[in-house]
Amino acid sequence: MPKVHNFSAGPGILPQEAIDQSIAALQNFSGTNLSLIEVSHRGKEFEAIMEEARNTVRELFNVPESYSVLFLQGGASMQFCMVPYNLLDEGETAAYVNTGVWAKKAIKEAKLFGNIEILASSEDKNFSYIPKGWNIPSNAKYLHITSNNTIYGTQYQEFPDSPIPVVCDMSSDIFSRPIDINKFDMIYAGAQKNMGPAGVTLVIIKNELLGKVKRSIPSMLNYQTHIDGESMYNTPPVFPIYVSLQTLKWVKSMGGCVAMEKRNSEKAALLYGEIDRNSMFQGTAATEDRSKMNVTFVLKDDSLTDEFMALCKSNNLSGLKGHRSVGGFRASIYNALPKESVQALVDTMQQFEKSKTGVNA
Ligand SMILES: Cc1ncc(COP(=O)(O)O)c(C=O)c1O
Repeated sequence: MPKVHNFSAGPGILPQEAIDQSIAALQNFSGTNLSLIEVSHRGKEFEAIMEEARNTVRELFNVPESYSVLFLQGGASMQFCMVPYNLLDEGETAAYVNTGVWAKKAIKEAKLFGNIEILASSEDKNFSYIPKGWNIPSNAKYLHITSNNTIYGTQYQEFPDSPIPVVCDMSSDIFSRPIDINKFDMIYAGAQKNMGPAGVTLVIIKNELLGKVKRSIPSMLNYQTHIDGESMYNTPPVFPIYVSLQTLKWVKSMGGCVAMEKRNSEKAALLYGEIDRNSMFQGTAATEDRSKMNVTFVLKDDSLTDEFMALCKSNNLSGLKGHRSVGGFRASIYNALPKESVQALVDTMQQFEKSKTGVNA
C-alpha cells in the first residue's frame, strides 16, 4: 500500500505509535488478556490510564493543582452550552469574540443563559483575520475566544491579558505550542484533531470558577459532578481516552509543546513559503494571523481547482478539500503530520505550476 499523506481537518492524523499501541491494547490490555474495550473502567488497569492521562495533560501545559483536568463526552459543541450553564447567571453578561462558525455556535448557546456581548467579529471578511484592538469589559463574567479557527486557517498568535476569566476553545490547536496556563481560566478541546479520536473532550478548568451561579444544573452538565467523580461519574469513553493518552505520551517523548511548536512552525513555513512563491496559488488568511494547524489557500484561477485536486489524489495526498464556506484547499498540518507530507504537497504544487506555466520552481 502506498503511503497516503493525511491532511484531514478532523478527525485528523494521529501518531503511528499511538495507533499501534491502541491496536495492541484492543487485543490485550495491560496484560489482562482482555480487550481494553471489554473490561471495567473501574478496574485498576483503566484507573491507572485515567490517572496518567490527567497527569500528562498537567505536565504538558504545566497545569497547577488549582485547576481540574476532565475527560468528558459530547464534543466541543457540548462545551458551548456547558460553559454558560455553569458560569453565567441570568441577567449577567459574558463577552465573546466572533472568529467563525464555531465561535458563532458558542455564542448561540450562550444566549440561552445570559446576556452576550460580542466584542469583535471578523465576519465582514469571511473570518479571514483575527480582530484586534477590542476592549474586555471588566463587568463581564468571562471572555470566550477560539484560539484556532479550523475552517478559515486563522490563529491567535498571542492571548490577551484579561481582567476577567478567559475561556478558550482550543479544539484545533491544543498541545501544538506552549501556553501560559495562567492566562486561561478554562480550556476545552474536542480530541479529534490534535489529541485523539472523536468521542472525548478535554476540559481544564480553574476550580474557583465553579459554584457561583444560582440555577440548578443537571448532573451530567455540571462540571462539579465530573470533578467529584474524577471523570468517572458515568462510564467514560475508554477507548478515546486510551488513544489520547498514547498521543499525549508521544508529544511528551518528542519534547513536549516546545518541540511541537518548532515542528509545526517548520511545516507551516515550508507550506506558506510555497503558497507565496507559487504564481498559481494564494493564501486566504491574513498573513499575521495565519494558522500553523490549518493552512487555507486557493488557486488564483478557480476553474483549475478540480484539476489540482485530482493531481493531489494521484500523488496520494488526502483530505485537502477546503471547507465549503472558504472553497479551495485546506491543508491541516496537525502535530502528528510529518514534514515529508508537507514536502509532498509542496512538490505537487510545483508540479502543477510547471505543467501549466512551464516554470520550474
Ligand atoms: C474550533 C472548533 N471548535 C469546536 C468544534 C466542534 O467540535 P465537536 O465536533 O467535538 O463538537 C470544532 C470542530 O471542528 C472546531 O474546529
